[in-house]
Amino acid sequence: MFNSRYEALMDKFVIRGGNRLKGTIQVSGAKNAALPAMAAAILTDDPVVLENIPQVRDIETERKLLAAMGAEVELGYGRAHHRTSICCRNLASPEASYELVKTMRASTLVLGPLVARFGRARVSMPGGCAIGARPIDLHIKGLEKLGATITQEHGYVEARCDRLRGAEILFDKITVTGTEDLMMAATLADGETVLENAAREPEVVDLADLLNRMGAHIEGAGTSTIRIKGVSSLHGARHRIIPDRIEAGTFIIAGALAADELKIQNCEPRHLGALLQKLRECGVELQTEADCVVVRANGKLTAADITTEEYPGFPTDMQAQYMALATQAEGSSFIVENIFENRFMHALELVRMGADVRIEGRRAIVRGRTPLSAAAVQCSDLRASASLVIAAMVADGETILDRVYHVDRGYERIEEKLRSVGAEIRRIGQMFPKRATVPVAH
Ligand code: UD1
Repeated sequence: MFNSRYEALMDKFVIRGGNRLKGTIQVSGAKNAALPAMAAAILTDDPVVLENIPQVRDIETERKLLAAMGAEVELGYGRAHHRTSICCRNLASPEASYELVKTMRASTLVLGPLVARFGRARVSMPGGCAIGARPIDLHIKGLEKLGATITQEHGYVEARCDRLRGAEILFDKITVTGTEDLMMAATLADGETVLENAAREPEVVDLADLLNRMGAHIEGAGTSTIRIKGVSSLHGARHRIIPDRIEAGTFIIAGALAADELKIQNCEPRHLGALLQKLRECGVELQTEADCVVVRANGKLTAADITTEEYPGFPTDMQAQYMALATQAEGSSFIVENIFENRFMHALELVRMGADVRIEGRRAIVRGRTPLSAAAVQCSDLRASASLVIAAMVADGETILDRVYHVDRGYERIEEKLRSVGAEIRRIGQMFPKRATVPVAH
């Protein structure tokens, strides 16, 4: 889907602020639900067909990861371009290399399914990343509880076990991909597994729905206790990925700042509870319907504090975008980041655009309202980039946003979507082929 020459040429956005947004934006499928769903295909010989797969870079990385192991991964084109079919019948090498894991930490999601199905997995340790140390010790401890023998050598984790056996696993800390990894592993274990203090994110529920369609017996997904009765094999299934609540939330915040009227369609407002409540507290005008949210900017935002928490609390993946909004609200907003250390890199770039943000450890204090002025800024991670895109849309002048490959990891054609509702945003090098027509290297 991407090649390096193309990437280098397409790695900047130019955004002219001040335009009003009006119209409808369609939300894509959730990247964070699609990634574990693709890994779940490892658990069966049959094809697993997934619909509403977003065309983003992380999905391409996972396709490469599965293909490198010998899986057949078909990505649909044309009208079927959001469908993928994955068949892991001939998986030859149960290994996830450093080259791929280093670019996407969620690659560790293959660890549980590989050891459950093949009795062996070798996965590179993810190492540090821009938003702090992100260990996988809870995945490893859980797999050991399920009977796997784990060794760590040369930067790789190797797990072995003839057949996993059910166990009670209490997570020391809530982990989303840890819950997903162990839930997948437990589907093929001998006996019952109980996951306590499990993550309750909608993406965990979506994965459980897919696994149950494949013949698994999972109850309690969406609560903090998940029970899985192991089965001897799973079969193929067809599944539609849930809408991306973070992409939807990003557009809602853009709308809260700059929309005459913006309709965010194909989303699931039930998954956006904490965000919508907070935005209403700030004075944002919102209406929700079954699958859409309509937002208007009334220019009268007031400051409100947030603390990031596990679902159903305020998502850490919306913290950076919320900070962009807080710069335009009257008063001081306290933003506490509880999930990840070092997740305020966007703050420094926002300050360069004129924001008044002070960082004190895990807390940021944003004093608003400050006019923002365009500057050359750099993306440091996926959600930080979204925050800068939003800030640039309300800034005075033309912002040049560098390293937008971070945006492409998780947002599908964000510039086209925003342009279609009136934003002035273009990718430098737009004369080159559009992404959808770039040939895929198999
Ligand atoms: C997932 C999401 C990510 C989101 C995050 C928190 C995917 C692909 N990614 O990431 O977008 O920001 O949830 O909502 O779904 N931890 C440990 N040991 C472990 C695992 C995690 O200490 O073995 C810690 C992490 O360092 C972090 C916290 O637990 O402080 C939560 O991390 P976790 O929920 O695992 O995040 P991810 O699943 O990686």
